[in-house]
Amino acid sequence: MTARKKPKVYITRKLPDAVETRMRELFEAALNIDDSPRSQAELVEAVKTADVLVPTVTDRIDADLIEAAGPQLKLIASFSNGVDHIDVEAAAKKGITVTNTPNVLTEDTADMTMVLIFAVLRRLIEGSRVLTENPAGWAGWSPTWMLGRRIGGKRIGIVGMGRIGTAVARRAKAFGLSIHYHNRKRVSPATEEELEATYWDSLDQMLARVDIVSVNCPSTPATFHLLSARRLALMQPSSIIVNTARGDIIDEAALIQLLRDGKIAGAGLDVFTNEPLVNPKLLKLAHEGKAVLLPHMGSATIEGRIDMGDKVIINIRTFFDGHRPPNRVLPGRL
Ligand code: DGY
Repeated sequence: MTARKKPKVYITRKLPDAVETRMRELFEAALNIDDSPRSQAELVEAVKTADVLVPTVTDRIDADLIEAAGPQLKLIASFSNGVDHIDVEAAAKKGITVTNTPNVLTEDTADMTMVLIFAVLRRLIEGSRVLTENPAGWAGWSPTWMLGRRIGGKRIGIVGMGRIGTAVARRAKAFGLSIHYHNRKRVSPATEEELEATYWDSLDQMLARVDIVSVNCPSTPATFHLLSARRLALMQPSSIIVNTARGDIIDEAALIQLLRDGKIAGAGLDVFTNEPLVNPKLLKLAHEGKAVLLPHMGSATIEGRIDMGDKVIINIRTFFDGHRPPNRVLPGRL
């Protein structure tokens, strides 16, 4: 019996060792051991010979790149939940299947959303900086020093009640927040009941009434600047906003202005418009204690990243076994 030829798999970034080892066992896998981001020119070269491309959110898989691919490229198995970095339509037109890694980073991302809410309202980074940067500046406990704001009893408005939004709602409810949400579709009555959630078909109405806005929808053409200058201005001056989804869902320049003017009290951001570049005005706001900024760490747990790698492997194997991969992404379906 002749052994089946292993598919040529090009992986754009360093993955956890366990995932890379398994990929080398199963595929003719080209790894990126030193994790240097691949240039567009390197990607163009790769797609001329690879059967499978495994990109991440830091790669731009646009129509030009897909156009440059050789006929052997049959699968783009993204190591990511979001697929806004891939022109899924262009891939479909060329007969290339696209897959992603949903579900396995839901809980970690929801955890990080709560971390940001706590960090902003309880001034976590500011407090920690007092000790790490100027320990002598701490004169000891005081009844009125470094006061944040209580979490329990506030209203959270979740923008996008998919898997991650719902996981955020469960956590928020456990911390005593009232759940409000805006979504294209209302969630099931059972979920609404479990979360005691209030649905707003008008995002504008919800923004004006909640204390915490959490952005949890995918980045699509329809959600680009969903939190526009006009909508952000509807938020209460005491309210805060957290974003663990994608930077381009918020009009970042407008948010910066509103934070500077004290028209929004604080922001917790894990994602940015021009990643990995962060607007210096946001950095300044962070130094002033008006924003907590993280470098896109929402899903950054070793368990999550191994689970994502396992999903990529399952998608590739299922595809080359001649079946529909479990996490196929269809154009316009996110
Ligand atoms: C994804 O996979 O879409 C995430 O943004 C990575 O954290």
